Amino acid sequence: MDFYSGWYAAISSDEVKGNKPTAIRRFGRELVVWRDRDGKASVMDDSCPHRSVKLSLGSVKNGVLACAFHGFEFASDGSCILVPETGKPAANLRCRSMPCLESHGFIWLWYGPAEQAESHPPWFEELDEGLSWSQYTSSWPCHITRCIENQLDYAHLPYIHASTIGRGFKLQDNDRNFELDDDSIKLRLKQSHFIFKFPNIWSLQILPGRFYQFIAFVPIDLENTLLYVRAYQRFVTIPVLRNALALILDYQSKKILLQDKSVVISHPRQSSTIDVGEKLYPSDKGIVWFRKRWSEGTTEGFE
Ligand code: FES
Ligand SMILES: [Fe+2]
Repeated sequence: MDFYSGWYAAISSDEVKGNKPTAIRRFGRELVVWRDRDGKASVMDDSCPHRSVKLSLGSVKNGVLACAFHGFEFASDGSCILVPETGKPAANLRCRSMPCLESHGFIWLWYGPAEQAESHPPWFEELDEGLSWSQYTSSWPCHITRCIENQLDYAHLPYIHASTIGRGFKLQDNDRNFELDDDSIKLRLKQSHFIFKFPNIWSLQILPGRFYQFIAFVPIDLENTLLYVRAYQRFVTIPVLRNALALILDYQSKKILLQDKSVVISHPRQSSTIDVGEKLYPSDKGIVWFRKRWSEGTTEGFE
């Protein structure tokens, strides 16, 4: 499978708890995510190298992952450290593990050659400064590129979002405000700006230092994408009020995102880098650049 090479926010940290391995599908692969004794996350193929049942059906005991079927135990690097029948490790049994790290409330997966993995994932430093966040997810039946391009496209605001954020929006001259570089795409609009950072995070500054919308676009496979949508805010710190505000912000954001989704999922489902004869206009400048960079940075396979 072809995707842009880099660190992807892949699953929210709070979805991987305690002794319970979590099954996920990412980049078209079935994976298991679990935590060792220190709480450090590991991501491996969700298939036992003994007889191929799902490791996510097993459990974490004493910091190792035990298969549900015959109890073989695996360390976080995928090595088999115990076969109950022999009482010994088995050097010939290894589960493939993927480079991963955890920060900012996400477990990140490296897509591309493992030896090229960078030390840090991309992030928006402004979201670290004492803001709290709420989160929901949304599944879209289309390639990640279509979901990302939707967030780079401001010309749809007065149409798809005529009843919400696009009311009264004027299109003229916004294409001059793009800042395009190898790792990010930024657009300054009148009252706000957004930044996309390759390969899969996007943030909209609504009020500087106080209120941001954030999306991580997580590839399930070539035709499905999971969006982790967060509202970061600094208005309210009292927990009960914070939860109430989160409900309101997420309600608003879901309404807007559903407007987007209603049209985006009617694109051809495959990658937007596959030419289907689209004719792009000046407002699509960010999308043109995105397709160029995405194509240049694309690599085949996990490792
Ligand atoms: S299939 Fe996993 S231990 Fe046998
Ligand atoms: Fe939109």
